[in-house]
Amino acid sequence: MEQPIQYRLIKKEKHTGARLGELITPHGTFSTPIFMPVGTQATVKTMAPEELKTIGASVILANTYHLWLRPGSQLVRAAGGLHQFMHWDQGILTDSGGFQVFSLAHRRGISEEGVTFKSHLDGQPMFLSPEKAIHIENDLGSDIMMSLDECPPFFESHAYLKASVERTSRWAQRGLQAHRHPDRQGIFGIVQGGGYHDLRRQSARDLTSLDFAGYSIGGLSVGESKAEMNHVLDFTTPWLPENKPRYLMGVGTADSLLDGVIRGIDMFDCVLPTRIARNGTCMTSQGRLVVKNAQYAQDFTPLDPQCDCYTCRNYTRAYIRHLIHVNETFGIHLTSYHNLYYLVHLMARIRQAIRDDNLLDLRAEVFDQYG
Ligand code: GUN
Ligand code: ZN
Repeated sequence: MEQPIQYRLIKKEKHTGARLGELITPHGTFSTPIFMPVGTQATVKTMAPEELKTIGASVILANTYHLWLRPGSQLVRAAGGLHQFMHWDQGILTDSGGFQVFSLAHRRGISEEGVTFKSHLDGQPMFLSPEKAIHIENDLGSDIMMSLDECPPFFESHAYLKASVERTSRWAQRGLQAHRHPDRQGIFGIVQGGGYHDLRRQSARDLTSLDFAGYSIGGLSVGESKAEMNHVLDFTTPWLPENKPRYLMGVGTADSLLDGVIRGIDMFDCVLPTRIARNGTCMTSQGRLVVKNAQYAQDFTPLDPQCDCYTCRNYTRAYIRHLIHVNETFGIHLTSYHNLYYLVHLMARIRQAIRDDNLLDLRAEVFDQYG
């Protein structure tokens, strides 16, 4: 059967491993590399879907774990699926819940069958299996689903990570078999293995022997150094097929996006731009700017003089600082808008640099500005 999710490689950059391509989904065809804003609870916090479109966002993320707990996947299905429920007609990718169970839930237990845990909301005992995760994602109706994985700490022992990788591969296969809508949703397998060359290779081999729509690289940006992450990407992406998209999970700083793209990554997501926006921190061409700081109280310039987003065209640092200071929600709306615009536009510049074969110049410029 033809996959509902396809990848078309358009061009490789001359001096790096960067790829310009297209991600073809039932809700549109999108240029890659791409940055995907996170909408954990079926909303990208503070942002209306129309605003996301104005910015140029094309695929957003939602979380199986959160939506399963509230409002429940049955309710989303009754609403006609996540796209209808939240009024978003472009791409949606759902994470499987694996990562959230390990980062949020209490009293976790992991077995061959799946994960047991207590809800972080009310302590209720829950059980998530690879089949269950896919069935919830089927109900949500996302375009791209993640298979259930274990995301262990980067510095776990080789013995633990080996057993974990093997179980994640078996879970990936079980998820594929449980899939109820292979005609309209695609599943990605998630490569794990910590910092170990042999385990990443084993994970990539296991998963690429199965027919996934694409491949995620997980277990990174969990406390290891940037050099360690780049090293894992250096050896892992070459094991992934050229005709499928590669997604680096949970990575969203300007420097890491560039370093990921250079190593052949096509898709990224991260809560960082919206999370730091809500505490008054902005991503700018000069690096991070903490606009809520007192030094901006009388600063009547925009957040980023080089940015032409709605926020920067119309509002000053002094005004935004004031709003955040008095807890007006419009303040964090303006900073969220700007931060997402910054990353989505950085990706557009990255795609242009791939076309022009000067991605390393763009990397040098961004790293230089970030100091
Ligand atoms: N988000 C960030 N990292 C991961 C990961 O390793 N697995 C999953 N499922 N989600 C993630
Ligand atoms: Zn701006």
